[in-house]
Amino acid sequence: MPLLEVKDLRTYFFTQEGVVKAVDGTSYVVEEGETLGLVGESGCGKSVSALSILRLIPQPPGKIVSGEIIFQGRDILKLDEDELRKIRGNEIAMVFQEPMTSLNPVLTIGRQMTEALELHMGLHGKSARDRAAELLEMVGIPEAGNRLDDYPHQFSGGMRQRVMIAMAMSCNPKLLLADEPTTALDVTIQAQILEVMSRLSREFGTAVIIITHNLGVVARYADRVNVMYAGRVIETATAEELYGNPKHPYTVGLLNSVPRLDENRKDKLIPIEGLPPDLAHLPVGCAFYPRCAWRQDRCREEYPPFRLIADAHYVSCWESEKVKREIH
Ligand SMILES: Nc1ncnc2c1ncn2[C@@H]1O[C@H](COP(=O)(O)OP(=O)(O)O)[C@@H](O)[C@H]1O
Ligand SMILES: [Mg+2]
Repeated sequence: MPLLEVKDLRTYFFTQEGVVKAVDGTSYVVEEGETLGLVGESGCGKSVSALSILRLIPQPPGKIVSGEIIFQGRDILKLDEDELRKIRGNEIAMVFQEPMTSLNPVLTIGRQMTEALELHMGLHGKSARDRAAELLEMVGIPEAGNRLDDYPHQFSGGMRQRVMIAMAMSCNPKLLLADEPTTALDVTIQAQILEVMSRLSREFGTAVIIITHNLGVVARYADRVNVMYAGRVIETATAEELYGNPKHPYTVGLLNSVPRLDENRKDKLIPIEGLPPDLAHLPVGCAFYPRCAWRQDRCREEYPPFRLIADAHYVSCWESEKVKREIH
């Protein structure tokens, strides 16, 4: 049984402009200890996907309108508030996009960490402080023991992000959701943070969902990658396969438009032309149609089914070759 199984999840926002279909039928699994990358341009529904897992969607205007989120055999969408609280920040932890908004600026790092350790792990006094220092050390904060009495503003952006990860790991979660943990940081520091996360994931056996718009950076640290476009997963494969053999024209565009770590690129980065669609007015056919270089008439009329085209490699595109069988 996979650790997490998301089935046909739909999360909509009911606004004056119409129904914004932020997540519109995504399905995927996360195995124990696995690192999944969730990649796509800004506004494609990545954060809403992650927040849905913890049922943190503001309602109204948002609502999870259908689907199942099976975590360790139970549907999170069916739990009562008490059961949900036990899972949040405990079995599933989240690192948010903005570390400064999730850290309390008037409390020391040590205080914030020991609070979490008391609440979730029942540790007090010296043992909580020792554990906090140990966690900071694990995420690579130099002289961790001496930094416990510092305040968030005394840490650099990269170091704050490490603190956030240490706090998230303090309850030894089964699943860590990291929502663009590195976006504001330069590429080298992004790589260091991802390195820390993948090491922790290996050591603790924690599964991780890393959300980012940078496919070039995540592919090296993820086991598998889901590429999202307009609220749907349009391609999924192992990171290696996706990197070497991308099949969706959008994935190809993403790979050409982001800085990569694995090569010294001399060639220019090519942005994907055009804009993502308005999620309140999605077309019936493929949402990528207006921007697509491979488009055919059929693509405008019929949404391409998610099809298996190679081992564990699925793609939602009429024009990708070697389609073996349909799954939906
Ligand atoms: N509280 C909200 N009210 C209305 N629309 C929202 C709300 N939160 C997110 N959305 C919409 O959902 C879509 C997906 O957003 P999000 O998941 O944050 O994208 P990203 O991939 O950049 O993380 C966007 O169109 C966004 O405008
Ligand atoms: Mg986001």
